[in-house]
Amino acid sequence: MKVDRRITNLIITGFSGTGKSLVAKEVALRLNWDFLDTDDEIVKQAGKPIAEIFRQDGEGRFRELEREMIRKACQQRHTVISIGGGAIVDPQNYELLAKTGLIVCLEAKPETIYERLFREAACNPGTEIRPLLAVDNPLERIRQLKASRQSYYAKADWTIHTDGLSVNEVAEEVIRASRLLRRYAPRNDREKVQSGIDKDIACLVETTTQSYPVFVGYGLLDKLGEKMKKAALSGTATIISDENVFSLYVSKAEGVLKSAGFAVNSFVVPAGEETKSIDYAIKIYDFLVEHRTERDDIIIALGGGMVGDLAGFVAATFLRGMPWIQVPTSLVAMVDASIGGKVGINHPEGKNLIGAFYQPNLVLADCQTLTTLHQRELTSGWAEVIKHGLILDEEFVQFLESNVDKLTKLEPELLTRAIARSAAIKAQVVSQDEKEKEGKRTILNYGHTIAHGLEAATQYKRFLHGEAVAIGMVGAAKLSQRLGLLSSAAVERQQSLLQKFGLPTSLRAEAASQRRGRKRSNFKLSLAGITRAMELDKKVRGKSIRWVLLQDIGEAVIRNDVPQQDVLAVLRELAEP
Ligand SMILES: NC(=O)c1ccc[n+]([C@@H]2O[C@H](COP(=O)([O-])OP(=O)(O)OC[C@H]3O[C@@H](n4cnc5c(N)ncnc54)[C@H](O)[C@@H]3O)[C@@H](O)[C@H]2O)c1
Ligand SMILES: [Zn+2]
Repeated sequence: MKVDRRITNLIITGFSGTGKSLVAKEVALRLNWDFLDTDDEIVKQAGKPIAEIFRQDGEGRFRELEREMIRKACQQRHTVISIGGGAIVDPQNYELLAKTGLIVCLEAKPETIYERLFREAACNPGTEIRPLLAVDNPLERIRQLKASRQSYYAKADWTIHTDGLSVNEVAEEVIRASRLLRRYAPRNDREKVQSGIDKDIACLVETTTQSYPVFVGYGLLDKLGEKMKKAALSGTATIISDENVFSLYVSKAEGVLKSAGFAVNSFVVPAGEETKSIDYAIKIYDFLVEHRTERDDIIIALGGGMVGDLAGFVAATFLRGMPWIQVPTSLVAMVDASIGGKVGINHPEGKNLIGAFYQPNLVLADCQTLTTLHQRELTSGWAEVIKHGLILDEEFVQFLESNVDKLTKLEPELLTRAIARSAAIKAQVVSQDEKEKEGKRTILNYGHTIAHGLEAATQYKRFLHGEAVAIGMVGAAKLSQRLGLLSSAAVERQQSLLQKFGLPTSLRAEAASQRRGRKRSNFKLSLAGITRAMELDKKVRGKSIRWVLLQDIGEAVIRNDVPQQDVLAVLRELAEP
């Protein structure tokens, strides 16, 4: 019998101050596993603190002891092992650890790490000060050392951003990740060591009803059949697509599915938001009935968010729900619409009024399909990508800032990384709040309160959604600044990033880009029109609007005490020349 050695241990790594030891202890307690901290064991064995080993015997000796301790630890079974922050840099250690357990890396921003180490030192006077703090500029030292180790941390099977999370919350995430990783890890040791976990998996979404992988890659459409078979799907696949995407990709998708053994039917709908309606849902039901579709057959949504929402709605309701796959082909769909299981159709009285939460069995995003997407749609999609960085991940914002040119030119490797990261952020948020009940999902609405006001006030005809979100994010950042939450430098940083991706950052800029050749529309904006539409926005609770604001780049906060006059002032600023 082949033994899946991955389930043997759980290894927690990460920089100092990311809470490895406390989290590992908590995880061990919850799983009823043993707990081992290699640093603690070294201290016990050497009979002196680590700083002293460094000082008296040198770092080389410490690394030797560490290697020995890791070798011993890897002989354990069902143990949560917390390892020192530098241990994973050693290739021998890494190989041994990767062979015997799942590696989870805890991440935190340098500022968070500094704060935590500082607090720890203040709370434990008399204990030896950490070498990291015993330098002139500890924050800079943390930054440098962390950056030098980042590529090693990136080899972990899973990464958890711990900023703003309690030990219990991180422990919960570790357990969730380990369960999911085990499910999707190859069963065979050798395969594992050579290839690791399916490297096309960008993230996993885990909800109470369904857990599923999100695959992101360049040219990944070729692997659609293979991934579906691995997810234990079989039978007839009905592809639903709009006419634009159909003409470009359906023959390829059909070919790939047929050669993987699936029977395939395809149904094409007109492109455009009007198609997301009960009329088209009925047309698809008719098609499914006519083709004698059964409960364990599969629906595949191949297209942008419109197709995803409509096909998902049909999948949720036909025969009381059937398996379905999202194959998003627009940037918005890849990083946003395909993740989280919100499906639905529009009602003449409002967008997305009818729908359900119905999670797909898998999401497969082939970034190469973006090469045929209309430039304006692509640019609009970057707004949601940037939004994900702004609300939760400053490092990702830095990555976007450093790679604007290559990303906007769709350079395959960087594009794949950006989409995978952005999708992972959305997946992390929706996994914590599947049905938008706990308020955690609310942060995804950053920029959306003003955006919905702009869209509704122009009957959804003047702005693409991302364009309105970009302007809305500028408004929300200015509002954050007015409330004393955000610095003017951060407001400018956000604005400059949006501009570099070609997004409008004010109603003026939007008008200018329309003059530069975009189709003009007759939908004029008035301040009263926008505020009226904003008050109708469904995020209004009682009388106050729940504003998603920033207290830093990468840190969203929710406020429902924003004075109306500040909102008006910001809207005026966005509109004034
Ligand atoms: N369910 C959710 O959580 C969620 C989140 C965000 C948006 N949405 C919904 O998604 C929709 C917007 O998504 P969208 O921006 O993808 O719109 P869309 O699906 O209408 O696609 C935009 C246009 O791009 C075309 N297109 C898509 N992929 C293409 C490709 N690879 N090559 C060439 N053309 C391509 C489409 O045919 C369409 O004309 C809205 O209905 C919105 O309500 C849903
Ligand atoms: Zn949006």
